[in-house]
Amino acid sequence: MQIFNSVKEMQDWCKKHKKQGRSMGLVPTMGYLHEGHISLVKAARQDCDIVVVSIFVNPIQFGQGEDYGSYPRELERDSALLLKENTDAVFAPSVQDMYPAGYDTFAEVFGDITGKMCGASRPGHFKGVTTVVSKLFHICQPDRAYFGQKDAQQLLIIKKMVRDLNFPLEIVRMPIVRESDGLAMSSRNVYLNEEERQQALVLSQALKMAEKNIRDGEREIEKIRQQIKDMIEARPLARIDYIEIASGQDLSALEEIQGGVLIALAVKFGKTRLIDNLLVEV
Ligand code: PAF
Repeated sequence: MQIFNSVKEMQDWCKKHKKQGRSMGLVPTMGYLHEGHISLVKAARQDCDIVVVSIFVNPIQFGQGEDYGSYPRELERDSALLLKENTDAVFAPSVQDMYPAGYDTFAEVFGDITGKMCGASRPGHFKGVTTVVSKLFHICQPDRAYFGQKDAQQLLIIKKMVRDLNFPLEIVRMPIVRESDGLAMSSRNVYLNEEERQQALVLSQALKMAEKNIRDGEREIEKIRQQIKDMIEARPLARIDYIEIASGQDLSALEEIQGGVLIALAVKFGKTRLIDNLLVEV
């Protein structure tokens, strides 16, 4: 497994493999890898000749006062995990190399898809995500790129960008990986103390309850939202950021529960903001 810290070296290496006709899978990450990331790497390994994993804590997708400085970074541990998965290359560039002095170019998706949910709570976040992901696509030229359903809004936005800008690659969506007690895997779970972690289980429990009520015939969005709200608010440490129920295709508003519906939650426990979601097909 090769580790590249330089954009130019990564680009040359990828070009060489592409020229030889090898298919390439890219797994973009910010590191501190968990089973969720590993499921993406495994899928890429199955589908593609060459697997590249990027590890880059992207400063421009963090807002003022967010956790850019404290975001967990453990490149050695991550590299060991990736070696076990037969990864071909790790791309871990420096901030200076990705955004040299005078850097002024951004890729941004506009509209409802970026304006609501995490886009509303974290202004500028998705502009940072789509910019870095565009750069990674240009540098590595993957045939497929793998993203987790846990970041449902991010996934839809990246798919839209790829469509709108005609990036010649396929975006592969992989299911959420959960701990045995239901908590969705996230690099940020490490911030939770024991009590916060226990109360955070309400996210997956509320989603399950909503799914059951929908399966039992409930179609009124406001009723489902209220049931979720009541359940989450019963946990004293929970502070709801949003409960969104929208089209799973493009996050547009729905009149009632019908078709592919995304139920997405963002809730703070102490200082840690967690997201989780569920796609229901009705
Ligand atoms: O999902 C993430 O970890 C990040 O947003 C991504 C896609 C690697 C871009 O920095």
